[in-house]
Amino acid sequence: MHYNFDEIVDRKNTNAFNTDGFRGGILRIEPGETLPWGEDDYVRMWVADMDFAVAPEICDAIRARVDRRIFGYTGMFDGGYRNALRAWCQEMYDWDFKDEELCCTPGIVYALTQLVEDLVPRGGKVLTMTPAYSQFLHACEYSGVELLRSALVRDENGRFGVDFGDFATKAADPDTKLLLLCNPHNPTGRVWTEAELTEIGRIAVEHDLWIVSDEIHCDLLRTGLRHLPMGKILPDYGKLVTCMSASKTFNVAGLLLSAILIRDEGERQHFKTRAKACGMLNPLSVAAHQAAYEQGGEWLRQLKAYLDGNFALLDAFLKQELPKAVFTVPEATYLAWVDLRGYLPAETNLPDFFARKAGVILEGGSAFFVDDAEGFVRLNLAIPRSEVKKGLRRMRDAILSFEA
Ligand SMILES: Cc1ncc(COP(=O)(O)O)c(C=O)c1O
Repeated sequence: MHYNFDEIVDRKNTNAFNTDGFRGGILRIEPGETLPWGEDDYVRMWVADMDFAVAPEICDAIRARVDRRIFGYTGMFDGGYRNALRAWCQEMYDWDFKDEELCCTPGIVYALTQLVEDLVPRGGKVLTMTPAYSQFLHACEYSGVELLRSALVRDENGRFGVDFGDFATKAADPDTKLLLLCNPHNPTGRVWTEAELTEIGRIAVEHDLWIVSDEIHCDLLRTGLRHLPMGKILPDYGKLVTCMSASKTFNVAGLLLSAILIRDEGERQHFKTRAKACGMLNPLSVAAHQAAYEQGGEWLRQLKAYLDGNFALLDAFLKQELPKAVFTVPEATYLAWVDLRGYLPAETNLPDFFARKAGVILEGGSAFFVDDAEGFVRLNLAIPRSEVKKGLRRMRDAILSFEA
């Protein structure tokens, strides 16, 4: 079957954050202020969900569950979802987990917040690499613990890497208790190599750190690349928690379900009994995620090929039209991390600039990411190619008219 990623799917009036929420989220319009862009005129390249229709196999599974007509309190009793996830992990990453490790939460952000609270005592510190996903900081703020930041460094080709000297120093701080690892990394799109993960793991183990490996982007790799779970690097390390979900991969983030694989039995019991969502699950989410893992492989293969095409388009466009932009095609995610400091002052409020001057809704700068993000925009390329082209042309025109 051929899946059509060129289709423009109308998301308006579905309460989608992406289409119906950006005016409050990015655009701060003053009372009485009018903008040159009509309500439907914006190109949206911001929040990390996709403008592509969910695979029909998943929609069918949700429909089949709807036909059962009762949606009472739900858990994981038949093992269907767990077995589907395990088979997926075996096939995609040649990696396995033990049945009992699986805990489910309504989203990974939820789990990060609870894990930091559980694992880091008052006065303790959490370590991560920056720029970082803003929720890593928020998870620490909720618990009142400090986030130590180890800035990624860029090589001459614009590729980000770990500054291992700095990372090891911060890991050795006696107050550091937990490493929040983003694997693959949002927003830079790095897929850590085996050597990098091994070194990260070695340092964490040396200092007896808990590792929470957020692997939400693990299936959105460029064609030909393979995800390496931290659990495969450290097969016996008890203080490892792995977070995965079909949510990003299959565009079902609004269904709120994620797999939190906790090896340590004590923490697992603690996590489950304290679960603020009471451990109950949405029955439609369970059906959707199970179908994604069981039947979504071909849809994902075609999605990745389409995303590869969008990245090639962006790369060629920037080289041709905006050569001072610094960009390398990311190894993972559908998010492009573009350094525009060659054109715009680093302190520019980039989301506001592009929303007003280009009618393009995007994320970027320090309001959206933790550290080292000034002058960078993050473009969501999981949109039909015609929209990518329109958005890029408008961004170019706004940048060049700023320069003129
Ligand atoms: C690294 C990372 N973790 C977690 C999330 C969101 O997780 P969830 O929607 O499951 O709460 C995102 C979304 O962009 C992300 O990039």
